[in-house]
Amino acid sequence: MNVGVVGLGAMGAGIAQLSIEACVDTVGREVSRELGERAQTRIAHFLTRKVEKGQIEAGARDEALGRLTLTTELSDLADCDLVIEAIVEDLGPKQELFAELERICRPDTVLATNTSALSVTEIASAVSTPERVVGMHFFNPAPLMRLVEIVRAELTPDAAFDAAYALGEKLGKHPIRCHDTPGFVVNRVLIPLLNDCVRVLDESRVTPEDLDAGMKFGAGWPMGPCELLDLVGLDVHVHASEALYEKTREPRMAAPPRLVAMLNAGLLGRKSGRGFYTYES
Ligand code: 3HC
Repeated sequence: MNVGVVGLGAMGAGIAQLSIEACVDTVGREVSRELGERAQTRIAHFLTRKVEKGQIEAGARDEALGRLTLTTELSDLADCDLVIEAIVEDLGPKQELFAELERICRPDTVLATNTSALSVTEIASAVSTPERVVGMHFFNPAPLMRLVEIVRAELTPDAAFDAAYALGEKLGKHPIRCHDTPGFVVNRVLIPLLNDCVRVLDESRVTPEDLDAGMKFGAGWPMGPCELLDLVGLDVHVHASEALYEKTREPRMAAPPRLVAMLNAGLLGRKSGRGFYTYES
């Protein structure tokens, strides 16, 4: 089996890592060689950490890394059985990409999107064979989070859906089935919940440290909401909030002003070195 991953940012690199670790030959496409190599270095780092911790052998790491082919050309995805798109969360560029993939890939190639808040059906509307389009929504950090949502768009038949589900299992994930509704399952709950958490920061004048401690030690969260927002990226979260607010008109979906102000100030979280917390590069 051959898998293609388009876009090797944090999510795409994580998905590519899962794929090569699952013994799947993987073609990773980035717009420049530098960005591709940056993702490759990131993957090699995490696999090396696994070797250092005795979780895998050095030989297994090297074999896994050998399964990743980097490219800047979409045409190198022509022979893939399934392509997962993980590019910028904007409808226009995604639709353009899917139209291009439709032209390039075999007619039976399943085209999956990792979108978190856009409509899979709308993305699929850009191609003349929307029945090959499905959602595969991974969670950040993809190599560590067990879930993948397999999203059925309006015209996704069982064949494409089952192929995506089977790949999710092969990648060691726990897939769940859902339909193409705003936020699917988890973000439908998590986005307004995180927005509530930020509103509580202002309402109860608790510090981010204490709010995080509250949710970790009082509600059993693995990390606090401010830590999680910094991990996800404030740009990603605000964008997802806006997309869901636009679709549902539920006030809780709208990004709180504090988050928008932080975004405008460039405080994006871990990726920019500063969000609710400050990070060493
Ligand atoms: N990629 C690959 N490997 C990674 C990694 C990454 N991004 N980040 C960490 N690792 C590896 C590291 O090698 C690390 O070991 P090391 O520190 O010894 O090198 C190893 O994983 C374990 O890392 P941690 O010690 O940090 O692991 P924890 O046990 O602390 O768990 C966690 C980390 C799984 C992130 C946990 O804190 C957690 O579950 N947090 C919640 C995350 C969450 O809710 N994510 C969903 C966000 S919402 C989303 O994604 C939706 C989207 O649409 C916005």
